[in-house]
Amino acid sequence: MQYGSITVTETAIIGGTGLTSLNDLEIVRREVVNTPYGEPSGPLVHGDLRGHKVVFLPRHGSGHTIPPHKINYRANIWALKNAGIKKIIAINAVGAIDSNLTPGRLVFPDQIIDYTWSRTNTFFEEGLTSVVHIDFTHPYCEELRRLLIQAADAAGLNTIRSGTYGATQGPRLETAAEIDRLERDGCHLVGMTGMPEASLARELELSYATCAVVANMAAGRGTAETISMKLIEQHLRSGMAQVCLLLEKLVPLLREHA
Ligand code: HPA
Repeated sequence: MQYGSITVTETAIIGGTGLTSLNDLEIVRREVVNTPYGEPSGPLVHGDLRGHKVVFLPRHGSGHTIPPHKINYRANIWALKNAGIKKIIAINAVGAIDSNLTPGRLVFPDQIIDYTWSRTNTFFEEGLTSVVHIDFTHPYCEELRRLLIQAADAAGLNTIRSGTYGATQGPRLETAAEIDRLERDGCHLVGMTGMPEASLARELELSYATCAVVANMAAGRGTAETISMKLIEQHLRSGMAQVCLLLEKLVPLLREHA
């Protein structure tokens, strides 16, 4: 969108574990934002991604030091809204519950079950003239999800196009019994950062969709006796290389659909 001579950047990418910076991003400036909700995970990184302006925000901080339950989700989402962002692509590392989701694969979930607790999860709690209940039947923006799928196809990636994301509290990984329960509930993948990020984005009327990257088979799934950080990092490296290919195809599509 163009206001006079100022181009407003409309798309933000929130990077998760394994994506604290974007290699292909030519950084133009870093913006420190003070919000009514405290500090975001770091400055907003404004840059140029293959000719397209985007904002990047590493969810866990640039040094990957903020654990999932300590992330200031409200400050992050508010800062992006305040910067004029309209669309958010969230990148989230996940564990696979469904055996079709193998490590390194990208998944575009279409549903969420929220198991997190004690996280501040709304902008609508104080100074209200009336109580607000947002619609969250479809937690992700379907149009943005379609564009993600289209971009993945254009990049020739073998992705999974739907699934239910179970958001757990962390920071520990789950027990095998907890994963059995999530599976009975209908979850296909499990991660610690999907909520309340998605619902806060909806509260501020931002389009939001997730590209989940399978880092490991969830507890009690697959053949590994324990889940090792070394293996997680290895799978995330291959997954994040695919994320970069995906973003390359996605940014021009986002501009066409602005
Ligand atoms: N569980 C929860 N969150 C995760 C996992 C997991 O197995 N892997 C990566 N993020």
